[in-house]
Amino acid sequence: MKTLQGKHIVLGISGGIAAYKSAYLLRALIKRGAEVQVVMTPSGKEFITPATLSALSGKPVVSEFFSANTGEWHSHVDLGLWADLMVIAPATANTIGKMANGIADNMLVTTYLSAKEQVMVAPAMDLDMWKHPSTQRNVETLRKDGVIIIEPEAGELASGLTGKGRMEEPEAIARRIELFFEKSQSLRGKRVVVTAGPTYENIDPVRFIGNYSSGKMGFAIAEEFSARGAEVTVVAGPVSIKLQNPAIRRIDVVSAKEMYGACMSLAGDSDCMVLAAAVADYAPAVVSDKKIKRELAEDMCIRLVRNPDIAASLGKEKNGTLLVGFALETDKEEENAIAKLKRKNLDWIVLNSMRDPEAGFMKDTNKVTVISAAGDKKAFPAKSKRDVARDIVDIVSVDLTK
Ligand code: CTP
Repeated sequence: MKTLQGKHIVLGISGGIAAYKSAYLLRALIKRGAEVQVVMTPSGKEFITPATLSALSGKPVVSEFFSANTGEWHSHVDLGLWADLMVIAPATANTIGKMANGIADNMLVTTYLSAKEQVMVAPAMDLDMWKHPSTQRNVETLRKDGVIIIEPEAGELASGLTGKGRMEEPEAIARRIELFFEKSQSLRGKRVVVTAGPTYENIDPVRFIGNYSSGKMGFAIAEEFSARGAEVTVVAGPVSIKLQNPAIRRIDVVSAKEMYGACMSLAGDSDCMVLAAAVADYAPAVVSDKKIKRELAEDMCIRLVRNPDIAASLGKEKNGTLLVGFALETDKEEENAIAKLKRKNLDWIVLNSMRDPEAGFMKDTNKVTVISAAGDKKAFPAKSKRDVARDIVDIVSVDLTK
């Protein structure tokens, strides 16, 4: 089946013995209908000839910035615009190290640095190189940068050693690529709103009541929905982080009332709303327009009034929109979360406990239990916020695509 018909794939090949397998991978992609442009590092060419690869792909292989015979300049930027996916297989420890550190001394890494599309990396190296803290650190950096790592397999290595480091088999990589494209369309046409970050409630022009929310969880969820083809709007409180996918629309707000206004106006046009923001429950009753001066009195009082509850308001008026709330609790976690889910008329609630060291504000990890209105419950181990986002979107997608 031509499952990759019309897809543009850049296949990056760096210099490792597994480069011979790239020819099989290339064939597997072409057979599935993809158009493939091969980009090689200079040492990649020592392991497999560009002639073989260009015969299989039907395109000249790109490896130098300038073509030796024509003097034509190869634009890595154009390749980045052309491609729907970049796959680097094999990726050596050297290439991974350069990618993680932005060292752009060959056509392959330069192409990576200008890639706008998803990048997948299939590492291949000897056991000890793979295990080395430096390689592991670099792989982790790539993961954080949004690269999908196709983990090497355990098996017999070219060195004669046995262990992890062998590149995943070409057919398995081709299947991963197929699944990536299938998934990237799975929520096409669905409109999703995600709230993220804290809210700031002004006291005077220089002070506010806020909280430590970083927005990381909400942003990761927005990225994941977008990666699956959904049309995503993020309503963000004041956060210092950025969204990676330019397709995501971002509405910046400061206070709970502004967040409420933005969410209510988006609600009618949304298939799903994920309320990951840490919204302040109260705001000062009066906001001073001048900086409040130190008084002679020993203490002072700021009267607070209740903010609108965005989740509960959406729950009251929901008309087919799936609502996903969050509950960050310190005690009686499940009981409190289920009470919140019911009180706010949510479809799902994502519970995390302040008692878990991996959960909470400003962390890169989270440990969640997802509970549905129907009483289904799924507890996950501690994971990166990116992986937690994947789990949450997996669960919600089932209902969203019913
Ligand atoms: N939420 C909201 N608007 C508010 C307060 C909370 O939309 N004014 C949402 C949060 O985004 C989250 C869920 O409601 O999805 C639960 O937030 P939380 O602060 O835990 O709930 P509260 O109802 O404020 O309960 P608590 O008494 O624990 O603060």
